[in-house]
Amino acid sequence: ATIHEQKLTRGSGGELHQLAQGDIPVLTTAQGGPVSDDQNTLKIGARGPALMEDFFFREKIFHFDHERIPERVVHARGYGAHGFFETYESLAAYTRADIFQRAGEKTPAFVRFSTVAGSKGSFDLARDVRGFAVKLYTQEGNWDIVGNNMPVFFIQDAIKFPDMVHAVKEEPDRAFPQAQSAHDNFWDFISLTPESMHMIMWLMSDRAIPRSFRFMQGFGVHTFRLVNAKDESTFVKFIWKPKLGMQSVAWNEAVKINGADPDFHRRDLWDAIQSGNFPEWELNLQLFDQDFADGFDFDILDPTKIIPEEVLAPIPVGRLVLDRMPDNFFAETEQVAFMTQNVPPGVDFSNDPLLQGRNFSYLDTQLKRLGSPNFTHIPINAPKCPFHHFQQDGHMAMRNPVGRANYQPNSWGEGPRESPQQGFRSFADAEEGQKVRLRPESFADHYSQARQFFLSQTAPEQRHIVMALTFELSKCENPAIRARMVSHLLNVDQTLGEAVADKLGIGKLPKPADAAVPPRDDLPASPALSIIEN
Ligand code: HEM
Repeated sequence: ATIHEQKLTRGSGGELHQLAQGDIPVLTTAQGGPVSDDQNTLKIGARGPALMEDFFFREKIFHFDHERIPERVVHARGYGAHGFFETYESLAAYTRADIFQRAGEKTPAFVRFSTVAGSKGSFDLARDVRGFAVKLYTQEGNWDIVGNNMPVFFIQDAIKFPDMVHAVKEEPDRAFPQAQSAHDNFWDFISLTPESMHMIMWLMSDRAIPRSFRFMQGFGVHTFRLVNAKDESTFVKFIWKPKLGMQSVAWNEAVKINGADPDFHRRDLWDAIQSGNFPEWELNLQLFDQDFADGFDFDILDPTKIIPEEVLAPIPVGRLVLDRMPDNFFAETEQVAFMTQNVPPGVDFSNDPLLQGRNFSYLDTQLKRLGSPNFTHIPINAPKCPFHHFQQDGHMAMRNPVGRANYQPNSWGEGPRESPQQGFRSFADAEEGQKVRLRPESFADHYSQARQFFLSQTAPEQRHIVMALTFELSKCENPAIRARMVSHLLNVDQTLGEAVADKLGIGKLPKPADAAVPPRDDLPASPALSIIEN
């Protein structure tokens, strides 16, 4: 056999069907040049040396060498799907957003679920917050609701986000543990950050180990605004409720599943959608005005607080259906860029200091991660409505202004112009004050809602919280940090603090943490007592 024939028969079934013929297209370089041989580098004789001149080889390896992009600095591990949002009824009384004007309106959507702390290759069933990021391709541009499966957050001010994320991720000297809240740095930061106590209750609850993405709620967390055509503002909280209800696994199940199938959540979503079981969520709104907000002891700008649903019933306003998996994971799920700043006219921000910081962070990080200011040219990030602007050039520019004018105003009558009527107008809230770095007094109560959450749990759920805190804190080696955590738990609920202290073998209870705590004598007796003694 000649050298050429040997090559064709090498490898598994490497016969003639490996060649372009019939419907099989010719393999090309990225420049479109047809490739004659994709099995052998160009050499002097069959045994080399190899030649620099081999541009097939160099292009192929060059591209491979650059396949990786930075993983997301948080929420690195995720999985997404396409679908649509269907509006139930017009919400014109509250918002001028086009997506909410007509009953039955369908808007294309892309959703990415994620864990927060683990790297891209970590396991699905970590005890962690889950990201629930929704991109709605509205007729007035992309609207991203970049939420989580928990309604509150660890910190009140975005300036603490880098510290919080450093503390939750692997420790810098040893580079472990990955994807776990079970370590000293995490509990050190948390125990020094009492505002995180409400979130810690959620994180130690069954909500942090969901059975599947399909059985999770989603929350926009912050208070946002809706603004109607008369420029009247209503505060709003966004809540996604799964049609299937909520389910979690138990911790011992999570541990086994992580070992046996680290892709458990991915596989579940893939299987469900591929078999036509399309998961569905209802978007619910909690709508309220300033007077209502003023009636609370807490501040509606504080992202560590919820508005209890018993106090303000969420109203279902539409449904989100996920019915199609991406054709390509990298192109879509990996390259999708969510940003809290993406809101349509009729949706606006509140002064929540965490939200204000996020509005800077997401745009900034996308440049690093996707490598070019033109990341909106990637199909998954491009609007699906008409769009016209004068932004131009930069790396990977796919769409530049057409014609002579790349600025405005211009005398050529070319290009788009602003529209005071149709365009986004910020709600003209009256603001005044001194330039200061201060937390408001209204953000000071860190325990009441943590306690409310703990007491709202059923007995088995409370037991799971105790077990989770015991397990996670048992991995924290520093006794002072453990004791400091217990001192906070005693403020959340005395029996909770005592139970965790007992299980951790802390003989002498620490003093409850010194913090601004409202009087506790009006609280209901804790049902935790009975379950913990069992
Ligand atoms: C990523 C939610 C707070 C910065 C994400 C993602 C979600 C999310 C769901 C993943 C998006 C995706 O699937 O691609 C939240 C929620 C927060 C919060 C609900 C609080 C209520 C913050 C804060 C900052 C921040 C305070 C910074 C100041 C980031 C960054 C990414 C990210 C940089 C990576 C984005 C990317 O590379 O695509 N967040 N986050 N987040 N978040 Fe947040």
